[in-house]
Amino acid sequence: MQITTRAYTPEDFERCRWIEQGAVKANHYFADVIDYYRTTAGELAVACVDGQPVGMGKLTVLYDGSAWLELLRVHPDFQRKGVGRAIYRRYFEQIEQLGCPAARMYTGVRNVASAGLAECFGLRRGPEFHSMSAPTPDKTHPTGLHRIEAAQAIERLPELTQQTGGFLSINHTFCQLNEQTLRGFAAAGWLWAEGETLLVAGARFQPRKALYIAAALGQTERALDHARHLAAVGGAQKLTFHFAPDQQELRELCAANGFEDDPSDDVVMEWIRP
Ligand SMILES: CC(C)(COP(=O)(O)OP(=O)(O)OC[C@H]1O[C@@H](n2cnc3c(N)ncnc32)[C@H](O)[C@@H]1OP(=O)(O)O)[C@@H](O)C(=O)NCCC(=O)NCCS
Repeated sequence: MQITTRAYTPEDFERCRWIEQGAVKANHYFADVIDYYRTTAGELAVACVDGQPVGMGKLTVLYDGSAWLELLRVHPDFQRKGVGRAIYRRYFEQIEQLGCPAARMYTGVRNVASAGLAECFGLRRGPEFHSMSAPTPDKTHPTGLHRIEAAQAIERLPELTQQTGGFLSINHTFCQLNEQTLRGFAAAGWLWAEGETLLVAGARFQPRKALYIAAALGQTERALDHARHLAAVGGAQKLTFHFAPDQQELRELCAANGFEDDPSDDVVMEWIRP
């Protein structure tokens, strides 16, 4: 059995959908992100057995130059045969070429296969995250929060770090909280504030599926109201908020505002260039 890797080509589309549908029960997003991925730095690679794609993985260069490893899927008929390892080898070739200072991925805290494979390549378990979701209400109202520039959020880095555990999650892309990330988020239009109230919220892809809240400081309920309004205006079905698991007060406030716990916590795994 010969395993090879190469860059994705449009002819691989149906085969990649087959890989995704076999590998994961829910959360199918390949078809929705394929055009978006063409606009991002970093390759979508396929791994082939005897010339046919059986696995795929995307590397995305985030705002701070770090590598985000995503959409890693191996069709169940070909798992545990070294296909995942082949994709990781290709990831690390790119990490070297691009000079990424770090590489990260996330997985469910109970995903032994994904974490085990990542550990083979020197990624270590980092912080864990809890998330809560709520349906978007029909009726919302503007809250007075307005878009802000990065500098205003950079001033609040210590508070943001405490709430978020050091990562801002949009679409389960956990971006390390630093000045470059906040500049990228400002450019994406994901930073909102009024007075002491600050909201970080947006969608990297599939905007109609969910609006992601990455942080809410100050008058938290007002920030949540603004997120609901953004979700309603943008046509998102639900809101999802990731935060550090020790944020008990935030958890209670979310529960009081109609948010429910998501089934699994997530863990970020990371490799830092020595
Ligand atoms: C995670 C996944 C990509 C692994 O791909 P794979 O091709 O089966 O992995 P490999 O055969 O290259 O495994 C390499 C190593 O990873 C670890 N590993 C892989 N699967 C494992 C499992 N089920 N249990 C424990 N360790 C596992 C082992 O250390 C393995 O080495 P070994 O076989 O010599 O013991 C695959 O299981 C998959 O697609 N899962 C569903 C989607 C998913 O969870 N994606 C991860 C992002 S959330």
